[in-house]
Amino acid sequence: MCWAVMREGLEMLLKLERVAKAYGGPSSDRSVRVLEAIDLEIEAGESVAIVGPSGSGKSTLLHIMGGLDGPSSGAVFLNDRNIVGMQEKELAAVRNTEVGFVFQMHHLLPQCTVLENCLLPTLAASAPSDGEESVQRALRLLARVGLTERVHHRPGQLSGGECQRAAVVRALVNRPSLVLADEPTGSLDRASAEQLTELLAELNREEDVTVVVVTHSMELAQRMGRVLCFDGNELRPYSGTSAAA
Ligand SMILES: Nc1ncnc2c1ncn2[C@@H]1O[C@H](COP(=O)(O)OP(=O)(O)OP(=O)(O)O)[C@@H](O)[C@H]1O
Ligand SMILES: [Mg+2]
Repeated sequence: MCWAVMREGLEMLLKLERVAKAYGGPSSDRSVRVLEAIDLEIEAGESVAIVGPSGSGKSTLLHIMGGLDGPSSGAVFLNDRNIVGMQEKELAAVRNTEVGFVFQMHHLLPQCTVLENCLLPTLAASAPSDGEESVQRALRLLARVGLTERVHHRPGQLSGGECQRAAVVRALVNRPSLVLADEPTGSLDRASAEQLTELLAELNREEDVTVVVVTHSMELAQRMGRVLCFDGNELRPYSGTSAAA
């Protein structure tokens, strides 16, 4: 049975319609069916956590939501536009301007300072922006996450938690409507993980940005407004008894 995770919507930011994903192609004998007819609606301003066992398809789903990967079938509407089947150039522009990604490892460039790293998304040709305004926004956000004293340091001179906070700033710098975070606290100690969790929850409110977080941590998940759990190839509202993390 397919389970539709639907809500009575106000402004819909993200809508998945019967999204399925198989790796290796449907006719391959090594085909891995990961997602099965996922229906999901996320309103603008929501914060949503996705939990589930390792290998259940959380990262796959997040990548599809942000246009980093395409589904085998189904539609993904971001701000009312179906990103499935978009030309790569148009899709890259959507990814760059409407979506911010935070990954388990921060992927900051080691040779650039914290500020330069945070400004990288603003340099993409598809998102021409006022340089000085971007710098001011990055500096404001870096102050907001407690990194004012570190803006001219390189990632190698920062702690893991500081790098992740910088990665959150980088994800927000272009004012995306959607931030997708894939186990952002996975590489952090408990205190840093709690700090980053709090930060994501606060930024969701303050910056009016929709946040979807994949996590193994129920502590992080429960700081979000809604928790969804993978059950087999399907996604269900988390009941507290599902096979999470
Ligand atoms: N490129 C690929 N080719 C073939 N199979 C893949 C590929 N990427 C992922 N898979 C498989 O798809 C399934 C889901 O992977 P995914 O990375 O989405 O899981 P996950 O829920 O994020 O797991 P984890 O919690 O360990 O990060 C796994 O069985 C994985 O082996
Ligand atoms: Mg994963």
